[in-house]
Amino acid sequence: MIRIAVFCSGSGTNLQALLDACAAGTIDGTVALVVSDRKDAYALARAEAAGVETLYIDPRGFAGKEAYEEKVIAALDGHRIDLICLAGYMRVLSPFFIRRYKHKILNIHPALLPAFKGGHAIADALAFGAKVTGVTVHFATEELDNGPIILQEAVIIKEGDTPETLLERVHAVEHRLYPQAVQLIARGRLKVEGRKVHIASSE
Ligand code: GAR
Repeated sequence: MIRIAVFCSGSGTNLQALLDACAAGTIDGTVALVVSDRKDAYALARAEAAGVETLYIDPRGFAGKEAYEEKVIAALDGHRIDLICLAGYMRVLSPFFIRRYKHKILNIHPALLPAFKGGHAIADALAFGAKVTGVTVHFATEELDNGPIILQEAVIIKEGDTPETLLERVHAVEHRLYPQAVQLIARGRLKVEGRKVHIASSE
């Protein structure tokens, strides 16, 4: 059973999918901590409803990013966390933090990376006139939205899509893909070689 920390800044629908998968036993693990940089993140209410410990830290109260992250690291150590899942966490982690948890931080991104990196992937895909976008689950590395890819799935952009309608279909894929990726880790089925992530077949 792996112990998971989920980092969120917003609504936390992906957190909910991970909580549900742990409860259903489709992830061999447990969400032991939810970290947020925003006091009003609905993700914190979801965590509390599930009886999961939460940590809200206001980044503005710290001299620098590393001082803030030291506090986060202390909490991760305290909860014996094996895996960090970024789920709509809108802060860029420092190289110091990323290096400390090499191949132990996952991120979910609402596009087919390397297309539409950054914080507005859905709006960017629509504005670009793309016909296909999707979802990527990848390891976080020092370069933003650039780490080795674990799972990807396409979402077709339809005529007349708005950010809301597209987000709804992207979310449906995210909520299936993220628990799947976490379970691959929980079962020790991933091997990273440079940029490539090999998935061992299940026995
Ligand atoms: C998700 O769609 C996730 O892919 C996106 O934020 C959303 C969070 O939703 N992440 C990024 O855009 C990262 N660049 P949620 O709070 O409902 O899980």
